[in-house]
Amino acid sequence: MSGATQYTASQQAVIKQQGNNLLVSASAGSGKTTVLIERIMRKILAGTNIDQLLVVTFTNLAAKHMKQKLESQINKRISTLMAENPSETTASPVIRQLRQQLNLLGVANISTLDAFCLRIIQRYYYVIDLDPVFRLLTDNTEGLLIRDQVWDAVREQLYKKDGAKFDLLTANFSNDRSDDGLSRLIFRLFDFAQSTPAPQEWLDGLTKPYQIDDGPLTSSAFYQQQLLPLLEDNVDDMLQKLTQAQKIVTDFDLEPKSLDALQSVATTLTTLRDQLSTASWNELRAQINQFKVGRLKKTYKDDPDKTAHAKAMGTLIDGIKKQMATLSERYFAAEEQQVLDIMVGTKAIVQELVKATSQFSTAFAAEKRRRHVLDFSDLEHLTLQILTSDNESGQAALNQLRAQFDEVMVDEYQDINSLQESILQLLSRDEPGNMFMVGDVKQSIYQFRLADPLLFLHKYHDFADNPAHGDRIVLADNFRSVANVDHLTNLIFSQLMDAPVGQIDYDEDAYLKYGPKDYPTDMPQTTNLLLYQTETDAPAELTQEDETNFSIDDSSVGSITMVCAKNSGIKGTR
Ligand SMILES: Nc1ncnc2c1ncn2[C@@H]1O[C@H](COP(=O)(O)OP(=O)(O)OP(=O)(O)O)[C@@H](O)[C@H]1O
Ligand SMILES: [Mg+2]
Repeated sequence: MSGATQYTASQQAVIKQQGNNLLVSASAGSGKTTVLIERIMRKILAGTNIDQLLVVTFTNLAAKHMKQKLESQINKRISTLMAENPSETTASPVIRQLRQQLNLLGVANISTLDAFCLRIIQRYYYVIDLDPVFRLLTDNTEGLLIRDQVWDAVREQLYKKDGAKFDLLTANFSNDRSDDGLSRLIFRLFDFAQSTPAPQEWLDGLTKPYQIDDGPLTSSAFYQQQLLPLLEDNVDDMLQKLTQAQKIVTDFDLEPKSLDALQSVATTLTTLRDQLSTASWNELRAQINQFKVGRLKKTYKDDPDKTAHAKAMGTLIDGIKKQMATLSERYFAAEEQQVLDIMVGTKAIVQELVKATSQFSTAFAAEKRRRHVLDFSDLEHLTLQILTSDNESGQAALNQLRAQFDEVMVDEYQDINSLQESILQLLSRDEPGNMFMVGDVKQSIYQFRLADPLLFLHKYHDFADNPAHGDRIVLADNFRSVANVDHLTNLIFSQLMDAPVGQIDYDEDAYLKYGPKDYPTDMPQTTNLLLYQTETDAPAELTQEDETNFSIDDSSVGSITMVCAKNSGIKGTR
Protein backbone atom coordinates (compact mmCIF):
# COMPACT_ATOMS: atom_id res chain seq x y z
CA MET A 1 0.00 0.00 0.00
CA SER A 2 2.87 2.35 0.77
CA GLY A 3 3.54 2.80 -2.92
CA ALA A 4 -0.08 3.63 -3.75
CA THR A 5 -1.24 5.56 -0.71
CA GLN A 6 -0.92 9.31 -0.71
CA TYR A 7 -0.44 10.01 2.96
CA THR A 8 -1.69 13.34 4.22
CA ALA A 9 0.79 15.78 5.75
CA SER A 10 -0.33 14.84 9.29
CA GLN A 11 -0.10 11.13 8.51
CA GLN A 12 3.42 11.64 7.19
CA ALA A 13 4.30 13.52 10.35
CA VAL A 14 3.09 10.53 12.39
CA ILE A 15 5.07 8.09 10.27
CA LYS A 16 8.30 10.08 10.51
CA GLN A 17 8.18 11.52 14.03
CA GLN A 18 10.96 10.43 16.36
CA GLY A 19 12.74 11.37 19.56
CA ASN A 20 9.73 11.71 21.85
CA ASN A 21 6.57 9.95 22.96
CA LEU A 22 3.76 10.41 20.46
CA LEU A 23 0.02 10.31 20.94
CA VAL A 24 -2.05 10.14 17.77
CA SER A 25 -5.65 11.06 18.33
CA ALA A 26 -8.08 10.57 15.50
CA SER A 27 -11.58 9.46 14.65
CA ALA A 28 -12.60 6.13 13.18
CA GLY A 29 -11.16 5.33 9.76
CA SER A 30 -8.62 8.15 9.78
CA GLY A 31 -5.72 5.77 9.18
CA LYS A 32 -4.36 5.27 12.72
CA THR A 33 -3.62 1.57 12.28
CA THR A 34 -2.41 2.21 8.72
CA VAL A 35 0.16 4.78 9.84
CA LEU A 36 1.23 2.57 12.72
CA ILE A 37 2.06 -0.16 10.23
CA GLU A 38 3.77 2.30 7.88
CA ARG A 39 5.84 3.57 10.80
CA ILE A 40 6.97 0.00 11.50
CA MET A 41 7.89 -0.40 7.82
CA ARG A 42 9.92 2.78 7.93
CA LYS A 43 11.78 1.58 11.01
CA ILE A 44 12.48 -1.78 9.41
CA LEU A 45 13.87 -0.10 6.32
CA ALA A 46 16.07 2.03 8.55
CA GLY A 47 17.58 -1.14 10.05
CA THR A 48 15.41 -1.91 13.09
CA ASN A 49 14.56 -5.57 13.53
CA ILE A 50 10.93 -6.30 14.13
CA ASP A 51 11.63 -8.05 17.43
CA GLN A 52 12.96 -4.73 18.72
CA LEU A 53 9.40 -3.40 18.72
CA LEU A 54 6.64 -4.14 21.19
CA VAL A 55 3.32 -3.70 19.44
CA VAL A 56 0.20 -4.04 21.56
CA THR A 57 -3.25 -4.60 20.07
CA PHE A 58 -6.53 -5.23 21.87
CA THR A 59 -7.61 -8.44 20.19
CA ASN A 60 -5.81 -11.47 18.85
CA LEU A 61 -7.54 -10.85 15.54
CA ALA A 62 -6.13 -7.32 15.30
CA ALA A 63 -2.64 -8.70 16.00
CA LYS A 64 -3.09 -11.33 13.30
CA HIS A 65 -4.25 -8.73 10.76
CA MET A 66 -1.33 -6.51 11.61
CA LYS A 67 1.17 -9.32 11.07
CA GLN A 68 -0.50 -10.24 7.77
CA LYS A 69 -0.36 -6.63 6.58
CA LEU A 70 3.30 -6.34 7.52
CA GLU A 71 4.08 -9.59 5.76
CA SER A 72 2.38 -8.46 2.57
CA GLN A 73 4.03 -5.03 2.71
CA ILE A 74 7.47 -6.52 3.22
CA ASN A 75 6.92 -8.92 0.32
CA LYS A 76 5.69 -6.06 -1.86
CA ARG A 77 8.72 -4.01 -0.97
CA ILE A 78 11.04 -6.88 -1.88
CA SER A 79 9.28 -7.32 -5.26
CA THR A 80 9.44 -3.59 -5.96
CA LEU A 81 13.12 -3.44 -5.12
CA MET A 82 13.83 -6.37 -7.38
CA ALA A 83 11.68 -4.98 -10.22
CA GLU A 84 13.24 -1.51 -9.95
CA ASN A 85 16.69 -2.89 -10.07
CA PRO A 86 16.89 -6.29 -11.77
CA SER A 87 20.55 -6.57 -10.87
CA GLU A 88 19.48 -6.42 -7.18
CA THR A 89 19.93 -9.94 -5.93
CA THR A 90 18.37 -11.63 -2.92
CA ALA A 91 21.79 -11.26 -1.34
CA SER A 92 21.64 -7.44 -1.30
CA PRO A 93 21.71 -6.02 2.26
CA VAL A 94 18.28 -4.35 2.03
CA ILE A 95 16.60 -7.47 0.73
CA ARG A 96 18.38 -9.62 3.27
CA GLN A 97 17.20 -7.28 6.02
CA LEU A 98 13.62 -7.50 4.70
CA ARG A 99 13.74 -11.27 4.37
CA GLN A 100 15.04 -11.55 7.91
CA GLN A 101 11.98 -9.60 9.09
CA LEU A 102 9.71 -12.14 7.40
CA ASN A 103 11.42 -14.82 9.49
CA LEU A 104 11.17 -12.74 12.64
CA LEU A 105 7.45 -12.01 12.17
CA GLY A 106 6.57 -15.35 13.77
CA VAL A 107 8.28 -14.44 17.02
CA ALA A 108 7.64 -10.68 16.90
CA ASN A 109 5.93 -9.13 19.90
CA ILE A 110 2.86 -8.06 17.99
CA SER A 111 0.09 -9.30 20.22
CA THR A 112 -2.40 -8.48 22.94
CA LEU A 113 -0.83 -7.36 26.18
CA ASP A 114 -2.00 -10.60 27.85
CA ALA A 115 -0.18 -12.71 25.28
CA PHE A 116 2.94 -10.60 25.76
CA CYS A 117 2.68 -10.95 29.56
CA LEU A 118 2.46 -14.73 29.20
CA ARG A 119 5.76 -14.63 27.34
CA ILE A 120 7.35 -12.50 30.05
CA ILE A 121 6.20 -14.91 32.74
CA GLN A 122 7.47 -17.93 30.82
CA ARG A 123 10.82 -16.20 30.43
CA TYR A 124 11.26 -14.62 33.87
CA TYR A 125 9.15 -16.76 36.26
CA TYR A 126 12.21 -17.29 38.50
CA VAL A 127 12.32 -13.59 39.40
CA ILE A 128 9.18 -14.01 41.52
CA ASP A 129 9.69 -17.68 42.48
CA LEU A 130 6.72 -18.74 40.39
CA ASP A 131 6.27 -22.43 39.68
CA PRO A 132 6.79 -22.51 35.90
CA VAL A 133 4.39 -25.43 35.59
CA PHE A 134 1.05 -23.69 35.26
CA ARG A 135 -1.96 -23.91 33.01
CA LEU A 136 -3.71 -20.88 31.59
CA LEU A 137 -7.39 -20.67 32.52
CA THR A 138 -8.70 -20.06 29.04
CA ASP A 139 -12.04 -21.71 29.75
CA ASN A 140 -14.24 -19.06 31.29
CA THR A 141 -16.58 -21.64 32.85
CA GLU A 142 -13.79 -23.28 34.80
CA GLY A 143 -12.66 -19.90 36.13
CA LEU A 144 -16.18 -18.98 37.20
CA LEU A 145 -16.61 -22.32 38.90
CA ILE A 146 -13.46 -21.90 40.98
CA ARG A 147 -14.47 -18.33 41.80
CA ASP A 148 -17.93 -19.41 43.01
CA GLN A 149 -16.54 -22.25 45.12
CA VAL A 150 -13.98 -19.96 46.75
CA TRP A 151 -16.56 -17.28 47.48
CA ASP A 152 -18.97 -19.84 49.00
CA ALA A 153 -16.26 -20.95 51.42
CA VAL A 154 -15.22 -17.37 52.30
CA ARG A 155 -18.86 -16.39 52.81
CA GLU A 156 -19.47 -19.30 55.19
CA GLN A 157 -16.43 -18.27 57.22
CA LEU A 158 -17.60 -14.67 57.41
CA TYR A 159 -21.12 -15.72 58.49
CA LYS A 160 -19.56 -17.66 61.34
CA LYS A 161 -16.85 -15.25 62.40
CA ASP A 162 -18.25 -11.77 61.71
CA GLY A 163 -21.84 -12.47 62.78
CA ALA A 164 -23.95 -9.30 62.89
CA LYS A 165 -21.53 -7.23 60.81
CA PHE A 166 -21.66 -9.66 57.92
CA ASP A 167 -25.41 -10.16 58.30
CA LEU A 168 -25.85 -6.42 57.91
CA LEU A 169 -23.72 -6.39 54.77
CA THR A 170 -25.68 -9.29 53.30
CA ALA A 171 -29.03 -7.73 54.16
CA ASN A 172 -27.94 -4.48 52.56
CA PHE A 173 -27.14 -5.96 49.15
CA SER A 174 -29.24 -9.10 48.93
CA ASN A 175 -32.89 -10.02 49.20
CA ASP A 176 -34.84 -12.73 51.03
CA ARG A 177 -34.50 -15.26 48.28
CA SER A 178 -30.82 -15.08 47.40
CA ASP A 179 -27.44 -13.59 48.25
CA ASP A 180 -26.68 -12.96 44.58
CA GLY A 181 -26.68 -9.19 44.98
CA LEU A 182 -23.78 -9.30 47.40
CA SER A 183 -21.90 -11.94 45.39
CA ARG A 184 -22.19 -9.87 42.22
CA LEU A 185 -20.95 -6.79 44.02
CA ILE A 186 -17.96 -8.62 45.51
CA PHE A 187 -16.95 -9.98 42.11
CA ARG A 188 -17.35 -6.58 40.49
CA LEU A 189 -15.24 -4.90 43.16
CA PHE A 190 -12.66 -7.64 42.86
CA ASP A 191 -12.50 -7.24 39.06
CA PHE A 192 -12.19 -3.50 39.36
CA ALA A 193 -9.44 -3.77 41.97
CA GLN A 194 -7.61 -6.21 39.70
CA SER A 195 -7.56 -3.67 36.89
CA THR A 196 -5.44 -1.36 39.05
CA PRO A 197 -1.72 -1.81 39.72
CA ALA A 198 -2.30 -2.10 43.51
CA PRO A 199 -5.64 -3.89 44.12
CA GLN A 200 -5.50 -3.98 47.93
CA GLU A 201 -4.65 -0.30 48.14
CA TRP A 202 -7.56 0.50 45.86
CA LEU A 203 -9.93 -1.55 48.02
CA ASP A 204 -8.66 0.05 51.23
CA GLY A 205 -9.30 3.49 49.74
CA LEU A 206 -13.02 2.76 49.42
CA THR A 207 -13.78 3.60 53.03
CA LYS A 208 -12.05 6.98 52.85
CA PRO A 209 -15.05 9.00 51.66
CA TYR A 210 -16.96 7.89 54.78
CA GLN A 211 -14.24 8.98 57.17
CA ILE A 212 -15.65 11.62 59.50
CA ASP A 213 -13.24 13.19 61.90
CA ASP A 214 -14.61 15.20 64.77
CA GLY A 215 -15.23 18.33 62.70
CA PRO A 216 -18.48 19.37 61.01
CA LEU A 217 -19.78 17.52 57.94
CA THR A 218 -18.67 20.32 55.61
CA SER A 219 -15.03 19.76 56.65
CA SER A 220 -15.15 16.05 55.84
CA ALA A 221 -13.26 14.59 52.88
CA PHE A 222 -16.64 13.51 51.49
CA TYR A 223 -17.94 17.07 51.37
CA GLN A 224 -14.70 18.76 50.39
CA GLN A 225 -13.56 16.32 47.72
CA GLN A 226 -16.77 14.88 46.33
CA LEU A 227 -19.82 16.97 47.05
CA LEU A 228 -18.38 20.50 47.02
CA PRO A 229 -16.99 20.36 43.44
CA LEU A 230 -20.30 18.93 42.26
CA LEU A 231 -22.30 21.66 44.01
CA GLU A 232 -20.00 24.36 42.64
CA ASP A 233 -20.42 23.05 39.10
CA ASN A 234 -24.17 22.95 39.51
CA VAL A 235 -24.51 26.45 40.90
CA ASP A 236 -22.14 27.82 38.22
CA ASP A 237 -24.30 26.18 35.61
CA MET A 238 -27.46 27.69 37.14
CA LEU A 239 -25.84 31.14 37.18
CA GLN A 240 -25.02 30.75 33.52
CA LYS A 241 -28.61 29.84 32.69
CA LEU A 242 -29.77 32.79 34.74
CA THR A 243 -27.54 35.23 32.85
CA GLN A 244 -29.03 33.94 29.59
CA ALA A 245 -32.54 34.39 31.00
CA GLN A 246 -31.75 37.96 32.12
CA LYS A 247 -30.36 38.73 28.67
CA ILE A 248 -33.58 37.56 27.05
CA VAL A 249 -35.62 39.87 29.27
CA THR A 250 -33.47 42.92 28.45
CA ASP A 251 -32.86 42.15 24.77
CA PHE A 252 -36.55 41.65 24.01
CA ASP A 253 -37.94 44.25 26.32
CA LEU A 254 -39.96 41.87 28.47
CA GLU A 255 -41.80 42.83 31.66
CA PRO A 256 -39.40 44.73 34.03
CA LYS A 257 -40.91 42.93 37.04
CA SER A 258 -39.55 39.68 35.60
CA LEU A 259 -36.10 41.23 35.65
CA ASP A 260 -36.56 42.09 39.34
CA ALA A 261 -37.54 38.49 40.09
CA LEU A 262 -34.48 37.22 38.20
CA GLN A 263 -32.25 39.70 40.02
CA SER A 264 -33.40 38.30 43.31
CA VAL A 265 -32.60 34.75 42.06
CA ALA A 266 -29.16 36.02 41.06
CA THR A 267 -28.55 37.33 44.57
CA THR A 268 -29.67 34.04 46.11
CA LEU A 269 -27.47 31.97 43.79
CA THR A 270 -24.41 34.19 44.17
CA THR A 271 -24.75 34.08 47.97
CA LEU A 272 -25.14 30.31 47.85
CA ARG A 273 -22.09 29.98 45.57
CA ASP A 274 -19.99 32.07 47.99
CA GLN A 275 -21.15 30.11 50.99
CA LEU A 276 -20.69 26.60 49.59
CA SER A 277 -17.23 26.39 51.09
CA THR A 278 -17.92 28.32 54.30
CA ALA A 279 -21.48 27.78 55.58
CA SER A 280 -22.62 24.86 57.73
CA TRP A 281 -24.49 21.89 56.28
CA ASN A 282 -27.79 22.95 57.82
CA GLU A 283 -27.45 26.52 56.53
CA LEU A 284 -26.77 25.27 53.00
CA ARG A 285 -29.60 22.80 53.33
CA ALA A 286 -32.02 25.57 54.27
CA GLN A 287 -30.93 27.72 51.33
CA ILE A 288 -31.23 24.90 48.84
CA ASN A 289 -34.48 23.48 50.16
CA GLN A 290 -36.14 26.90 50.34
CA PHE A 291 -35.08 28.06 46.90
CA LYS A 292 -37.90 29.95 45.16
CA VAL A 293 -38.38 32.04 42.06
CA GLY A 294 -40.78 34.99 42.02
CA ARG A 295 -43.55 35.39 39.45
CA LEU A 296 -42.45 35.73 35.86
CA LYS A 297 -44.66 36.98 33.10
CA LYS A 298 -44.98 34.14 30.60
CA THR A 299 -47.60 35.34 28.10
CA TYR A 300 -47.95 38.64 26.29
CA LYS A 301 -51.38 39.12 24.83
CA ASP A 302 -51.31 39.93 21.13
CA ASP A 303 -47.52 39.69 21.01
CA PRO A 304 -46.55 36.17 19.96
CA ASP A 305 -42.87 37.12 19.59
CA LYS A 306 -42.59 38.31 23.17
CA THR A 307 -44.52 35.24 24.33
CA ALA A 308 -42.01 33.01 22.51
CA HIS A 309 -39.07 34.80 24.14
CA ALA A 310 -40.74 34.62 27.54
CA LYS A 311 -41.18 30.91 26.97
CA ALA A 312 -37.48 30.48 26.22
CA MET A 313 -36.66 32.43 29.37
CA GLY A 314 -39.14 30.24 31.32
CA THR A 315 -37.45 27.07 30.06
CA LEU A 316 -34.11 28.27 31.40
CA ILE A 317 -35.64 29.08 34.79
CA ASP A 318 -37.45 25.74 34.91
CA GLY A 319 -34.06 24.13 34.31
CA ILE A 320 -32.63 25.97 37.31
CA LYS A 321 -35.59 24.96 39.51
CA LYS A 322 -35.24 21.34 38.47
CA GLN A 323 -31.50 21.34 39.13
CA MET A 324 -32.03 22.80 42.58
CA ALA A 325 -34.79 20.29 43.35
CA THR A 326 -32.45 17.47 42.36
CA LEU A 327 -29.72 18.77 44.68
CA SER A 328 -32.26 19.05 47.47
CA GLU A 329 -33.64 15.53 47.04
CA ARG A 330 -30.39 13.79 46.27
CA TYR A 331 -28.02 15.37 48.77
CA PHE A 332 -29.83 17.57 51.26
CA ALA A 333 -32.77 15.41 52.28
CA ALA A 334 -31.36 14.94 55.80
CA GLU A 335 -29.97 17.36 58.32
CA GLU A 336 -26.36 17.29 59.48
CA GLN A 337 -26.65 14.92 62.44
CA GLN A 338 -28.69 12.44 60.44
CA VAL A 339 -26.17 12.47 57.59
CA LEU A 340 -23.32 11.97 60.06
CA ASP A 341 -25.13 8.99 61.58
CA ILE A 342 -25.79 7.53 58.14
CA MET A 343 -22.13 7.91 57.19
CA VAL A 344 -20.93 6.15 60.33
CA GLY A 345 -23.33 3.27 59.61
CA THR A 346 -22.35 3.17 55.94
CA LYS A 347 -18.67 3.18 56.76
CA ALA A 348 -19.11 0.03 58.87
CA ILE A 349 -20.86 -1.70 55.96
CA VAL A 350 -18.25 -0.59 53.42
CA GLN A 351 -15.47 -1.75 55.75
CA GLU A 352 -17.06 -5.18 55.94
CA LEU A 353 -17.48 -5.17 52.15
CA VAL A 354 -13.80 -4.38 51.66
CA LYS A 355 -12.87 -7.08 54.17
CA ALA A 356 -15.01 -9.68 52.39
CA THR A 357 -13.59 -8.73 48.98
CA SER A 358 -10.00 -8.82 50.26
CA GLN A 359 -10.53 -12.23 51.87
CA PHE A 360 -12.09 -13.54 48.69
CA SER A 361 -9.16 -12.16 46.70
CA THR A 362 -6.58 -13.86 48.91
CA ALA A 363 -8.45 -17.18 48.95
CA PHE A 364 -9.00 -17.07 45.16
CA ALA A 365 -5.28 -16.48 44.55
CA ALA A 366 -4.39 -19.36 46.92
CA GLU A 367 -6.80 -21.72 45.20
CA LYS A 368 -5.45 -20.87 41.75
CA ARG A 369 -1.92 -21.46 43.04
CA ARG A 370 -2.97 -24.81 44.49
CA ARG A 371 -4.40 -25.85 41.13
CA HIS A 372 -1.41 -24.45 39.20
CA VAL A 373 -3.65 -22.24 37.08
CA LEU A 374 -3.41 -18.58 36.09
CA ASP A 375 -6.12 -16.36 34.64
CA PHE A 376 -5.67 -13.39 32.30
CA SER A 377 -5.61 -10.85 35.08
CA ASP A 378 -2.89 -12.87 36.86
CA LEU A 379 -0.74 -12.61 33.75
CA GLU A 380 -0.68 -8.83 33.97
CA HIS A 381 -0.21 -8.72 37.75
CA LEU A 382 2.63 -11.24 37.71
CA THR A 383 4.30 -9.32 34.89
CA LEU A 384 4.05 -6.14 36.95
CA GLN A 385 5.56 -8.03 39.90
CA ILE A 386 8.45 -9.23 37.73
CA LEU A 387 9.09 -5.75 36.36
CA THR A 388 8.95 -4.06 39.77
CA SER A 389 10.78 -6.75 41.70
CA ASP A 390 13.76 -5.12 43.41
CA ASN A 391 15.96 -8.23 43.45
CA GLU A 392 18.91 -8.47 41.10
CA SER A 393 17.25 -10.80 38.61
CA GLY A 394 14.18 -8.55 38.47
CA GLN A 395 16.27 -5.48 37.73
CA ALA A 396 18.18 -7.43 35.09
CA ALA A 397 14.93 -8.55 33.44
CA LEU A 398 13.60 -5.00 33.34
CA ASN A 399 16.83 -3.62 31.90
CA GLN A 400 16.97 -6.36 29.31
CA LEU A 401 13.43 -5.65 28.12
CA ARG A 402 13.91 -1.89 28.08
CA ALA A 403 17.05 -2.32 26.04
CA GLN A 404 15.31 -4.74 23.68
CA PHE A 405 12.41 -2.47 22.73
CA ASP A 406 13.28 0.54 20.63
CA GLU A 407 9.65 1.50 20.69
CA VAL A 408 6.50 0.49 22.56
CA MET A 409 3.54 0.88 20.22
CA VAL A 410 -0.10 0.68 21.27
CA ASP A 411 -3.12 0.61 18.97
CA GLU A 412 -6.56 1.50 20.45
CA TYR A 413 -4.82 3.22 23.36
CA GLN A 414 -8.16 4.59 24.62
CA ASP A 415 -8.97 1.09 25.91
CA ILE A 416 -5.99 0.75 28.23
CA ASN A 417 -6.46 0.35 32.01
CA SER A 418 -4.19 1.62 34.76
CA LEU A 419 -2.55 -1.78 35.37
CA GLN A 420 -1.68 -2.14 31.67
CA GLU A 421 -0.47 1.46 31.57
CA SER A 422 1.90 0.74 34.50
CA ILE A 423 3.37 -2.23 32.62
CA LEU A 424 3.87 -0.23 29.42
CA GLN A 425 5.40 2.66 31.33
CA LEU A 426 7.91 0.30 32.92
CA LEU A 427 8.86 -1.19 29.55
CA SER A 428 9.30 2.15 27.83
CA ARG A 429 12.16 4.60 28.17
CA ASP A 430 12.37 8.19 29.39
CA GLU A 431 14.25 11.04 27.82
CA PRO A 432 13.60 10.57 25.07
CA GLY A 433 10.31 8.77 25.55
CA ASN A 434 9.65 5.91 23.12
CA MET A 435 5.94 5.26 23.48
CA PHE A 436 3.78 5.52 20.38
CA MET A 437 0.06 5.48 21.09
CA VAL A 438 -2.84 5.75 18.69
CA GLY A 439 -6.48 5.90 19.61
CA ASP A 440 -9.81 7.63 19.63
CA VAL A 441 -11.41 8.38 22.94
CA LYS A 442 -14.86 8.36 21.31
CA GLN A 443 -14.38 4.70 20.50
CA SER A 444 -13.70 3.65 24.07
CA ILE A 445 -15.86 0.56 24.25
CA TYR A 446 -14.17 -1.42 26.99
CA GLN A 447 -15.14 0.56 30.06
CA PHE A 448 -17.12 -2.43 31.24
CA ARG A 449 -13.82 -4.29 31.05
CA LEU A 450 -12.46 -1.47 33.17
CA ALA A 451 -10.60 0.43 30.51
CA ASP A 452 -9.88 3.95 31.66
CA PRO A 453 -10.15 6.43 28.77
CA LEU A 454 -9.01 9.16 31.17
CA LEU A 455 -5.47 7.82 30.70
CA PHE A 456 -5.77 8.75 27.03
CA LEU A 457 -7.39 12.10 27.78
CA HIS A 458 -4.75 12.93 30.37
CA LYS A 459 -1.96 12.50 27.78
CA TYR A 460 -4.05 14.28 25.16
CA HIS A 461 -4.10 17.41 27.33
CA ASP A 462 -0.69 16.94 28.94
CA PHE A 463 1.21 16.60 25.65
CA ALA A 464 -0.46 19.75 24.34
CA ASP A 465 0.53 21.69 27.47
CA ASN A 466 3.97 20.11 27.99
CA PRO A 467 5.58 19.21 24.66
CA ALA A 468 8.57 17.77 26.52
CA HIS A 469 6.31 14.94 27.77
CA GLY A 470 5.33 13.93 24.26
CA ASP A 471 4.15 15.04 20.83
CA ARG A 472 0.50 15.02 19.90
CA ILE A 473 -0.82 14.72 16.38
CA VAL A 474 -4.48 14.82 15.41
CA LEU A 475 -5.54 13.16 12.16
CA ALA A 476 -8.62 14.87 10.82
CA ASP A 477 -9.49 13.08 7.57
CA ASN A 478 -11.64 9.98 7.43
CA PHE A 479 -10.75 7.56 4.65
CA ARG A 480 -13.11 4.72 5.39
CA SER A 481 -16.40 6.15 4.20
CA VAL A 482 -17.90 8.21 1.46
CA ALA A 483 -18.90 11.78 2.28
CA ASN A 484 -22.61 11.14 2.87
CA VAL A 485 -21.82 8.43 5.44
CA ASP A 486 -19.52 10.86 7.26
CA HIS A 487 -22.26 13.51 7.29
CA LEU A 488 -24.94 11.17 8.55
CA THR A 489 -22.63 9.80 11.26
CA ASN A 490 -21.89 13.35 12.37
CA LEU A 491 -25.59 14.21 12.36
CA ILE A 492 -26.48 11.23 14.57
CA PHE A 493 -23.51 11.30 16.93
CA SER A 494 -23.53 15.04 17.52
CA GLN A 495 -26.95 14.41 19.06
CA LEU A 496 -26.15 11.16 20.86
CA MET A 497 -22.72 11.81 22.28
CA ASP A 498 -21.51 14.44 24.69
CA ALA A 499 -18.87 14.62 27.40
CA PRO A 500 -20.85 12.70 30.08
CA VAL A 501 -21.54 9.89 27.61
CA GLY A 502 -18.35 9.73 25.58
CA GLN A 503 -15.78 11.65 27.64
CA ILE A 504 -15.62 14.36 24.99
CA ASP A 505 -18.20 16.36 23.12
CA TYR A 506 -19.00 15.25 19.59
CA ASP A 507 -18.37 18.68 18.10
CA GLU A 508 -16.56 20.15 15.07
CA ASP A 509 -13.22 18.77 16.27
CA ALA A 510 -14.64 15.28 16.59
CA TYR A 511 -16.51 15.25 13.26
CA LEU A 512 -15.58 12.72 10.59
CA LYS A 513 -14.12 14.74 7.73
CA TYR A 514 -14.19 13.29 4.26
CA GLY A 515 -10.60 12.50 3.25
CA PRO A 516 -10.38 10.47 0.01
CA LYS A 517 -9.47 12.36 -3.11
CA ASP A 518 -10.09 9.61 -5.62
CA TYR A 519 -13.80 8.70 -5.32
CA PRO A 520 -15.84 9.55 -8.42
CA THR A 521 -17.82 12.74 -7.85
CA ASP A 522 -20.99 11.37 -9.47
CA MET A 523 -21.55 8.66 -6.86
CA PRO A 524 -25.10 8.36 -5.45
CA GLN A 525 -25.45 10.50 -2.35
CA THR A 526 -28.06 8.48 -0.50
CA THR A 527 -27.26 6.82 2.79
CA ASN A 528 -29.03 3.71 3.99
CA LEU A 529 -29.63 3.53 7.71
CA LEU A 530 -30.33 0.01 8.95
CA LEU A 531 -32.28 -0.09 12.18
CA TYR A 532 -32.64 -3.34 14.08
CA GLN A 533 -35.60 -3.69 16.36
CA THR A 534 -35.04 -5.79 19.45
CA GLU A 535 -37.70 -8.11 20.89
CA THR A 536 -38.33 -6.20 24.08
CA ASP A 537 -39.11 -2.52 24.53
CA ALA A 538 -36.54 -2.01 27.23
CA PRO A 539 -33.45 -4.13 26.76
CA ALA A 540 -31.97 -5.27 30.04
CA GLU A 541 -28.82 -3.78 31.53
CA LEU A 542 -25.64 -5.32 30.17
CA THR A 543 -25.08 -8.52 32.08
CA GLN A 544 -21.87 -10.31 32.82
CA GLU A 545 -22.79 -12.62 29.99
CA ASP A 546 -23.13 -9.78 27.49
CA GLU A 547 -19.79 -8.54 28.63
CA THR A 548 -18.10 -11.86 28.01
CA ASN A 549 -19.89 -12.40 24.74
CA PHE A 550 -19.23 -8.93 23.45
CA SER A 551 -17.07 -9.06 20.38
CA ILE A 552 -15.10 -6.20 18.93
CA ASP A 553 -15.32 -7.73 15.47
CA ASP A 554 -19.01 -7.04 15.55
CA SER A 555 -18.12 -3.41 16.05
CA SER A 556 -21.11 -1.72 14.46
CA VAL A 557 -23.60 -3.56 16.66
CA GLY A 558 -21.33 -3.46 19.68
CA SER A 559 -20.66 0.26 19.55
CA ILE A 560 -24.29 1.19 19.25
CA THR A 561 -25.28 -1.10 22.11
CA MET A 562 -22.65 0.42 24.34
CA VAL A 563 -23.58 4.01 23.57
CA CYS A 564 -27.21 3.27 24.30
CA ALA A 565 -26.37 1.51 27.55
CA LYS A 566 -24.30 4.46 28.66
CA ASN A 567 -26.96 6.92 27.59
CA SER A 568 -29.69 5.12 29.46
CA GLY A 569 -27.53 5.08 32.58
CA ILE A 570 -27.19 8.83 32.46
CA LYS A 571 -30.51 9.98 31.13
CA GLY A 572 -32.70 7.15 32.34
CA THR A 573 -34.07 6.61 28.84
CA ARG A 574 -33.18 4.46 25.94
N1 LIG B 1 -4.02 8.69 3.13
C1 LIG B 1 -4.90 7.74 2.82
N2 LIG B 1 -5.43 7.67 1.57
C2 LIG B 1 -6.32 6.72 1.24
N3 LIG B 1 -6.76 5.76 2.08
C3 LIG B 1 -6.29 5.77 3.33
C4 LIG B 1 -5.36 6.75 3.78
N4 LIG B 1 -5.09 6.51 5.09
C5 LIG B 1 -5.83 5.44 5.44
N5 LIG B 1 -6.54 4.99 4.39
C6 LIG B 1 -7.50 3.85 4.39
O1 LIG B 1 -8.55 4.16 5.30
C7 LIG B 1 -9.07 2.98 5.89
C8 LIG B 1 -9.08 3.13 7.40
O2 LIG B 1 -7.76 3.11 7.91
P1 LIG B 1 -7.40 2.50 9.33
O3 LIG B 1 -8.04 1.19 9.54
O4 LIG B 1 -5.93 2.59 9.48
O5 LIG B 1 -8.10 3.58 10.25
P2 LIG B 1 -8.15 3.65 11.85
O6 LIG B 1 -8.00 5.09 12.19
O7 LIG B 1 -7.15 2.71 12.43
O8 LIG B 1 -9.62 3.17 12.14
P3 LIG B 1 -10.24 2.68 13.54
O9 LIG B 1 -10.48 3.91 14.34
O10 LIG B 1 -11.50 2.02 13.13
O11 LIG B 1 -9.22 1.75 14.16
C9 LIG B 1 -8.18 1.85 5.43
O12 LIG B 1 -8.82 1.19 4.38
C10 LIG B 1 -6.92 2.55 4.92
O13 LIG B 1 -6.28 1.82 3.92
MG1 LIG C 1 -7.43 1.14 13.80
